[in-house]
Amino acid sequence: MSGYTRFGDQNPIGETLKVSPEEYQEKMNDYTDEASETEEGLLVPSGDDVYFAAQQWYWQGAPVILETGREYNIHLSSLDVQHGFSMRPEQALSKQINFQILPEYEWILPMEFDEPGTYHLICNEFCGVGHRTMHGRVEVVEEL
Ligand code: CUA
Repeated sequence: MSGYTRFGDQNPIGETLKVSPEEYQEKMNDYTDEASETEEGLLVPSGDDVYFAAQQWYWQGAPVILETGREYNIHLSSLDVQHGFSMRPEQALSKQINFQILPEYEWILPMEFDEPGTYHLICNEFCGVGHRTMHGRVEVVEEL
């Protein structure tokens, strides 16, 4: 991979795979089985893969705790309809990453966080009556 997704960039880069919603749910289950639950959120398994599944109307995989300065591969797919993955740092809401998510495709976005803090995850594509409630959270800490 040739670069990293940064907040404020308009064109996230990454790889795409074909995946059925059932297959993606299985990947999601394997991931959450290996992750540990804490009060603040999910601690990801060893390795740098982080999974989110968009679904009417929540984000599987959130909240999650990540650390600064580490290169993560963020996996994204939808289990039903089109959703929008939008992430914003709480301290700078004008900076954001936006990404359309479709069923049948898995995107893998390389992402690194420079700053610790709370990052809000919202859906920015209308996806039905619960669209406005489709929120999640990523907590970024300096060291896990
Ligand atoms: Cu999901 Cu709007």
